[in-house]
Amino acid sequence: MGFDEMDVSTIWMDGEFVDWDDAQVHVLTHGLHYGTGVFEGVRCYDTEEGPAIFRWDEHLDRFYASGQPYNMDIPFEREELTAATTELIRRQELDGCYIRPVAFYGYDSLGVSPKDCPVKVAIAAWPWGAYLGEEALEEGVEVMVSSWRKHASSQIPTNAKTTGLYVNSMLAGEEARRNGYTEAIVLNKEGDVAEGPGENLFMIRDGEIYTPGLSESILDGITRNTVITLARELGYTVHDQATISRGELNTADELFFTGTAAEVTPIRKVDNVVIGEGTRGPVTEDIQGTFFDLVERRIDDHSEWFTYVYE
Ligand SMILES: Cc1ncc(COP(=O)(O)O)c(C=O)c1O
Repeated sequence: MGFDEMDVSTIWMDGEFVDWDDAQVHVLTHGLHYGTGVFEGVRCYDTEEGPAIFRWDEHLDRFYASGQPYNMDIPFEREELTAATTELIRRQELDGCYIRPVAFYGYDSLGVSPKDCPVKVAIAAWPWGAYLGEEALEEGVEVMVSSWRKHASSQIPTNAKTTGLYVNSMLAGEEARRNGYTEAIVLNKEGDVAEGPGENLFMIRDGEIYTPGLSESILDGITRNTVITLARELGYTVHDQATISRGELNTADELFFTGTAAEVTPIRKVDNVVIGEGTRGPVTEDIQGTFFDLVERRIDDHSEWFTYVYE
């Protein structure tokens, strides 16, 4: 669904709330030409105690950290961004929603050096359901291993959530969709499994859980961290610095994606090879169920992970 069909009205931009249609930038904005922006994707869940932003602190940590390799000082304090975001949700009377903070080098000159370009910051929030579809959460998605590889972290910091990085994600995802799949799995430069275009990946084998380590060219996903924590609390052994070869995908008992957008989405086929029983497996179901019980506050553990919008 496009923004024009949504009931949204306001965007926070450089310290002010502006009408949705007035949140504009100049066409010679540095970030538009060179991908010099950083962003976050955050979910706010509709809970019994009202809308609650999930792991806002960790998203803010990553937002500021993403700017560091680019010498980008985000010119707003955490408290200002938090107040702006909660107010944005209240003003638009949103309950469950997706939040998109973005910071980028703005308009001044178009040398590759952004030296005199101001750092612009905006936050938007809008309703957003299951990223890969409701059915996908139950039955799983069919994915292909992309012919595109992830950047090595020696080429571009893959642990920073940089706008420019997402051309790689777009290429991989669109290649998959052109071939009839829902999503891609992207290998790293070495040919081992990195992640999805916008998701981390988990594998289950013989009851134990594996996910590629931070040196495998992945984004250090906040849902990845959540799932590792919850899985350990459920008693599973989690290998969180694994190297997973391409072949292991096909012989896995279960596979699933994690991400703010994708939440916990099972994978039922890779390159048309059926994974496990070809639907959501028992370990995935256990973890996914716990994840949704937690974020929708049916269990009240980890209250430190929630920022309530009306407090
Ligand atoms: C490339 C990539 N990997 C992994 C993730 C998952 O990260 P998170 O769980 O923090 O949303 C995302 C989404 O933000 C992503 O874009």
